[in-house]
Amino acid sequence: MEIKKVGVVGCGLMGRGIAEVSARAGHDVVVSEINQELLDKGLAAINASLTTAVGRGKATEADKAAALGRIKGTIETGNFKDCDLVVEAAVENLELKKKVFADLDKICPEHAILASNSSCLSILDMAMMTKKPDKVLGMHFFNPVPVMRGLELVKTILTSDETLKAADSFGKSIGKTVFTAQDAPGFITNRLFIPFALDAIRLLEAGFATKEDIDQAIVLGLNHPMGPLTLSDYVGLDTTYFIAEAMYEEFKDPRYAPPPLLKKMVTAGQFGRKSGKGFYDYK
Ligand code: 3HC
Repeated sequence: MEIKKVGVVGCGLMGRGIAEVSARAGHDVVVSEINQELLDKGLAAINASLTTAVGRGKATEADKAAALGRIKGTIETGNFKDCDLVVEAAVENLELKKKVFADLDKICPEHAILASNSSCLSILDMAMMTKKPDKVLGMHFFNPVPVMRGLELVKTILTSDETLKAADSFGKSIGKTVFTAQDAPGFITNRLFIPFALDAIRLLEAGFATKEDIDQAIVLGLNHPMGPLTLSDYVGLDTTYFIAEAMYEEFKDPRYAPPPLLKKMVTAGQFGRKSGKGFYDYK
């Protein structure tokens, strides 16, 4: 099944990136938000990102105009009725995502593939809200979507091979390198990143090393582009905490239990880059 028209639920940080890369690759895109203000904000951010791409020589003005011409914004989910694929990129709340999938199941054509950009929640729980769990999978993009080359597909025990194949082709069509995980909290990326990040936080919490030395050890010793504390600030400490909680809930493995320091920082509203302060100051 060839994917032509793409729907994206949510025009936030991830949804707008998914809409941008899909339109850049030639797909018609409908992207939805819950109100006009958030939709306008997201569409403006897509415009800004495409302007950056032009500025950095990654696109021409014509590419930008063509991509923008393919993106339609809406605050009505009914506008997904002729989409071949809809990617849900709403907030990381399972009950909300389950409702979105139940709605999409009623709105979208029978052949449409339904995907979630969730970074750790149960794709199967979402799939079971539809009459076609074989056409449901995870499509986990990485922030910022126009720059990060990876796309993590998440196959549930009910995802059909045809669905996986169509999603793989779509991922390649938008310029991503695709890898596939099973449907368990954290999938591959966060199943490995989160314990790594939590161990770095535990070292800091124990006064074993400074935040700068912890990050430098990884950047200069292991040649990572950024250290675990910097990356946690980038991902968001609230997101890091949420994913750790979800993984601990599922596996009851102490490696995934969020350290008290992380919980305190999130409680204090220190979410990292997005709030201006995390392990480092970004003001
Ligand atoms: N469109 C296309 N290309 C763009 C672009 C855009 N809007 N903006 C920037 N680029 C390109 C630039 O041209 C540059 O390419 P080049 O090196 O070939 O010229 C490249 O992207 C990097 O751009 P910059 O060097 O200007 O940007 P930075 O130095 O600030 O690096 C970054 C940007 C590579 C994204 C860096 O901030 C980074 O590595 N961040 C961490 C990314 C990451 O790890 N994300 C994963 C988070 S985990 C996640 O999302 C999963 C979830 O489950 C939590």
